[in-house]
Amino acid sequence: MKVLVVGGGGREHAIVRAIKKNPIVRKIYALPGNGGMASEAECVPVKATDIGAIVRFASEHRVNYAVVAPDDPLAMGAVDALEAVGIPCFGPNSAAAIIESSKAFSKELMHRYGIPTARFETFTELAPALEYIEAQGAPIVVKADGLALGKGVTVAMSVEEAKTAVRDMLEGGKFGASGRKVVIEEYLEGPEVSVLTFTDGETIVPMVSSMDHKRAHDGDTGPNTGGMGTVAPNPYYTPEVAERCMREIFIPTIRAMRAQGRTFKGCLYFGLMVTRDGPKVIEYNCRFGDPETQVVLPLLESDLLTVMQAVTEGRLKEVEVKFFDKHSCCVVLASKGYPGKYESGCEIELPEPEANREIYVAGAELQDGKLLSHGGRVLGVVAVEDTLKDAVAGAYDYAGRVKFENGFCRSDIGARALRAPAE
Ligand code: AMP
Ligand code: GLY
Repeated sequence: MKVLVVGGGGREHAIVRAIKKNPIVRKIYALPGNGGMASEAECVPVKATDIGAIVRFASEHRVNYAVVAPDDPLAMGAVDALEAVGIPCFGPNSAAAIIESSKAFSKELMHRYGIPTARFETFTELAPALEYIEAQGAPIVVKADGLALGKGVTVAMSVEEAKTAVRDMLEGGKFGASGRKVVIEEYLEGPEVSVLTFTDGETIVPMVSSMDHKRAHDGDTGPNTGGMGTVAPNPYYTPEVAERCMREIFIPTIRAMRAQGRTFKGCLYFGLMVTRDGPKVIEYNCRFGDPETQVVLPLLESDLLTVMQAVTEGRLKEVEVKFFDKHSCCVVLASKGYPGKYESGCEIELPEPEANREIYVAGAELQDGKLLSHGGRVLGVVAVEDTLKDAVAGAYDYAGRVKFENGFCRSDIGARALRAPAE
């Protein structure tokens, strides 16, 4: 069987490695992939957003199954286009991917179907938006409606800051078309939990929960990034919280999507906040999270491809989705300066492979057999152990054995999770 994976980061590397475990897989193509996964997948220099080229490649190479991982090609209809030429896919069609690509859509959906989320209003005009902020006061949260590489959210601690964010989007053209509509919402407090789920639109099966660390520096300071590390499971996702999420959020969401004629098939990611009033949705993503996938898939005991195919064929309820009763931690090594300016082309030497350790390459190229950094987030170093404490220590130990002089990582991934019972 030939499998195609669209995307080129650490998440895609984790997906490739998990799919490769299935002996029926003879070949994996990654479009574009990156040099760090070249020994596991044939990396083809086709952009993840070049839908026409992806479809042509898949047809010409008689690909049997495709996994579309990033948000952009999903929103642009990569799954629709591949299915139209008869290639079964993992991932939502563009009608369902709107759950991530339009925050206004997802907020309206939650509102209409009584799914717990922050109170909100949507604006396209500046004056009423400013009035609303004035009336609500701070702290308050301003979000660009569309995809903005995770940077479209301002958690404003003052009314002025919120007004500036709205002006930048509605008047200043910040985030382009994505920021022409803004969602202004209530500020929520509580620990954040990421839950990736498999769903075929009828059945929804949560994967093990995880915790992301979005800020660049220790103690959750510095600018927001794509994610500097993760742990799984997330200790704040207790069995009681999980039960409420299933009843109040997960099932109502897939039913609502179905009722809207937008049946969601693929990985639906719930960004949740566990508030004093219970779990609430901060955001939906229509795909696997990055770097959540890097801690979740190593804990998946069942075969990933088998589960994915069951999702595609609408028979998820027939397969078992089992996870190891273990803990994992991913420490991201990023280029110094990330998420601001950074240098690429710096040499990386990886340690020898070890049991219960993974290195997923997010941004690197191979040149004359050498691995060179290429991008902001470069590696995800993962350890799986029986306890969270050992997983965190193991990931840092292994990361310490990577030679990458231009790299840095946060030193406190997992620290909050380790403190969790005391909070
Ligand atoms: P999003 O891109 O929607 O996930 O938002 C990015 C980050 O902003 C989240 O991970 C939260 O830390 C924060 N955030 C988003 N919405 C809210 C909210 N309503 N209240 C407090 N923090 C929020
Ligand atoms: N780690 C957050 C995301 O993938 O959106």
